Amino acid sequence: MCGSGRIGLPLVEAGHDYTGLDYSAKLLERFRAKVSTAHSPMLIEGDARRFQCGKRFDLIFIGFHSLSEVVDNQDKRQVLIQIANHLETGSAFIFSLQNPDTRMRSIRESPSGKRVIPFPDGTKELEFSYVLESPKNNGEVVGVQRYAILAGDRVIDRRELPIHFHLIGKKDIETILADTGFRIENLFGDYDGSDWHTDSPFMIIDCRLDL
Ligand SMILES: C[S@@+](CC[C@H](N)C(=O)[O-])C[C@H]1O[C@@H](n2cnc3c(N)ncnc32)[C@H](O)[C@@H]1O
Repeated sequence: MCGSGRIGLPLVEAGHDYTGLDYSAKLLERFRAKVSTAHSPMLIEGDARRFQCGKRFDLIFIGFHSLSEVVDNQDKRQVLIQIANHLETGSAFIFSLQNPDTRMRSIRESPSGKRVIPFPDGTKELEFSYVLESPKNNGEVVGVQRYAILAGDRVIDRRELPIHFHLIGKKDIETILADTGFRIENLFGDYDGSDWHTDSPFMIIDCRLDL
């Protein structure tokens, strides 16, 4: 779930022994293309619910709430089982999720958004917009994101991608973690390291494999 390496790339560049997994071959290719150091990272194309890479790690992390893209809770449990199978006992698993109540409120208040980003050479602009439906009671969110490349008034290209993620509740993720052998060591509410509270934007969960 390393995507194109927003977190992984700086670690690779700093010389850490890094392995990334994602089921998108295209994103892994973009990650590889960005690596400028001599040490190429091990990037594995595979599904987080059923990967086997034949070694154990002393830290595994999932950034940018990517576990929310695994919509079904049984599938999330499967991801955590696989992570436990690849961690040394006592090692850390750190991941971020959106705080569901805060995020649902923000979606209801602003279900759509738009940004226009100029190309570095100034010749074109990327227009990005999204529309989200009101979250279902179980925390599932669907919507659409749209991209258009503009040259003045002319649209040169247009893409549309579906959005589908799941805002899992705090109790549910705590249960899945306990069932799969993890103990929560720290629960942060934001990237400044502040403790979690009901209005925090995130749930950043730092846990240890207790088995
Ligand atoms: C929000 S993106 C985050 C990407 C990444 N953390 C980064 O630095 O850009 C979510 C990523 O999770 C990947 N993903 C979603 N479900 C997956 C699964 N079951 N197995 C592997 N990768 C998955 C997607 O392909 C995507 O790259």
